[in-house]
Order: sequence, then C-alpha cells, then structure tokens
Amino acid sequence: MFENLKELPADKILALMQLYRDDPREQKIDLGVGVYKNAEGVTPVMRAVKAAERKLVEEQQSKSYVGLVGDPAYSDAMIELILGDAVERNKVGAAATPGGTGAVRQAFELIRLANPKARVWVSDPTWPNHTTILAYLGMEMKTYRYFDSETRGVDFDGMMADLKTADKGDVVLLHGCCHNPTGANLNKVEWQAVIDLLNERGLVPMVDIAYQGFGDGLEADAEATRMVAAGVPECLIAASCSKNFGVYRERTGLLMAVCQDAGRTGINQGTLAFLNRQNYSFPPDHGARVVTMILTDPELRADWAAELEEMRLGMLEIRQQLADELQRLTGSDRFAFLAQHRGMFSRLGTTPELVQKLRDDHGIYMVGDSRMNIAGLNAATVPVLAKAIVDAGI
Ligand SMILES: Cc1ncc(COP(=O)(O)O)c(C=O)c1O
Repeated sequence: MFENLKELPADKILALMQLYRDDPREQKIDLGVGVYKNAEGVTPVMRAVKAAERKLVEEQQSKSYVGLVGDPAYSDAMIELILGDAVERNKVGAAATPGGTGAVRQAFELIRLANPKARVWVSDPTWPNHTTILAYLGMEMKTYRYFDSETRGVDFDGMMADLKTADKGDVVLLHGCCHNPTGANLNKVEWQAVIDLLNERGLVPMVDIAYQGFGDGLEADAEATRMVAAGVPECLIAASCSKNFGVYRERTGLLMAVCQDAGRTGINQGTLAFLNRQNYSFPPDHGARVVTMILTDPELRADWAAELEEMRLGMLEIRQQLADELQRLTGSDRFAFLAQHRGMFSRLGTTPELVQKLRDDHGIYMVGDSRMNIAGLNAATVPVLAKAIVDAGI
C-alpha cells in the first residue's frame, strides 16, 4: 500500500521557515510565517490566557468528554463576540472545531453534504489552505478577482463582475476582516453591495474570520460578518481564536451555521455534531474553555481586550512607520497602501524574483507572492526593510 504514496509538495511557508532558520546571517528578518510577534520577536501567551489557565488547573474536576459540538457556553460566548446582537441566538447552529482550519474544513464538508453541486468561489488570492482543502475534498472551486496589483487595494469591479457569473446555490467564501494574504479589505458600502449581489443571485456566503481585533478593533472587525449574517437567508461562519487569543497550538475554532428560519437550527446543529463525530468525535476543549473563561469574566475579558488592542495598535504603528520611511526614501506615495492595509499581512505586490532578491541580498524572508507579516517587524528593522525594498528596485 505505502508504495502508492508519492512525495507531496512541501508547504511553502513551512519550507521558508526552515530556510530562515538555516540562514547564518545575523541581520535576517522573518516576515514569513503567520503568527503575531511582539517587538522582541516573541509570540506571547496573553496575560488573560495565563490567568484563565491557572484557574483551570486549580478548578477543573474532570477531563471527561464534553460534547460533540463542544461546550455550549463556548458557542454562546463566541457567537456573542462575533455576531453581537446581529442575529438571534436561536438562528445560529454552532460547533467547536480544532482551530479555524477545522471550522473551514467542516464548513466545506457541510456544503458538500448539503449541495454536492455547489461551487465554492474564493478570492484570488486567498489563504492557500482554502484552495488545497477544497481540492483535497474534490470540490469544485472558482476564483473571483480581488487584488488590484496597481493600487494594492481591492479590485472591487472585478470582484463583482466575477461573482455575477456565479450560479444560484454557489458558495462565496469571504474574509470577514484582515484579508490574508493581501491586507486589502472591502469598505462598508462595498460589503453591502456584495450582500445585495448574494441575495440577487441566490448565493450562499461563507465568512472566514480569523483576525478579529487585529484590524480596526474587536467591534469594527466583526461588522462585515454581522452585516452578512443579518442580511442573507443563510450563511456559514468559520472563526479562529488562534490569533486574537494567541492560542495557536490549542486548536480553538468555531463553525456557525446561521439561518433566518430558526426552525432549521436544530437540523443544522445536528449536522455539525454529525460532521464532528465523523472526523474526530469531540473537538479539543482546553483552548475553548480558556476562551470561554476569558469572555465570561469581566476582568479577564477587559484585560484580554486591552492586550489585544496593544497588539493591534503596535501593528498599525509599524505600518505607518514603514509607509513613512518608504515615502521619505522614494519621495512618492506609492507605498501608502501599507498604512491602509489591515491585519497582520500586506501584499507588497512585487515579483517572486524580487522577493528572492530581498532574501539573497538582505536576508529578508517573505512568502513568494510578496506577503509580508507586519508583526515580524519592529522599530529597528523597519528602516532596514524600507532600504532593501528601495535597493531592490521594487
Ligand atoms: C484566513 C485564515 N483562515 C483560517 C485560519 C485558521 O487558523 P487556525 O487553524 O490556526 O486557527 C487562518 C490562519 O492562518 C487564516 O489566515
């Protein structure tokens, strides 16, 4: 049997991490892997997470199974965090999943189960796991234009034109905030136009929200997801706690199936439970419990939100510093988009050859499509990167 297995292409970002580790240069800068890092280059355990974990160790009486969709208190807390009061709780079926990736995977499985003919439209570009999981599941994928390589903003006209060719029942995957990998996002008017188009054409949105609190703030980052959930008959929402709670390795995510017909919630919820059962039975509990403790304890919640806000503002400051430094060096505003992008990533919009040149000549590591992790920079490395970008002729 094993002789039938073939060597699979290495994950590009993991391969890049290895190249970075093997690079002996002291001045090297890692802008590759998608984890938040503070100014010291550390991915910290957040204060509220530590406090909740300490309490959990003291107070937890059992490690017995919880439930196929996880603890209902986790779903309640996350639904409140993401959806606020945009839709009534009884319209939302929800299941805990292993990370946001688990939520994405389960969402695709639900789509395949409910409508095997549905095609899933993803932005070009999108988070690579979207496309590889769809391919692995044998689901048909279509892409819609998203990134304007001139302005480095959203190619909104292209996006709308492409989505107008989608068939009734197709699924449109949207990034709720902080688009990965580009950093370019729709404004509120554009979101409303997308929602109107979804309704006109009978398309089903699936929102992937993995960076709530990393862009314009916890509430502002949820706004588009709330508009979608309230504005369409049904949608799927895949959420990740990896980034905004810093619980990457605990695998903490949630999949929501929202339906304006509350009479369907029971079946939706049952389907999510069934899909969890088939894939891994019970979803991981530790991260979900910690998140629940934080969200339901006013003091822990306030401290978490404050630390998250510090992280967000730090990333915004770096964006501004980089844009300013490039403005100073080039005497032009062509890098102003870096300050307008939101979230952890920005797509610089250059060629793989120049990305390689940055690596070879300056020890600066970014993904081949020129995605940079802004959190990989600090006040000392911003001028180094800016100079390298100019030297490379980008
Ligand atoms: C767009 C997007 N969705 C989902 C995820 C899922 O992350 P995780 O499975 O680590 O929670 C990520 C992480 O990089 C992401 O960028």
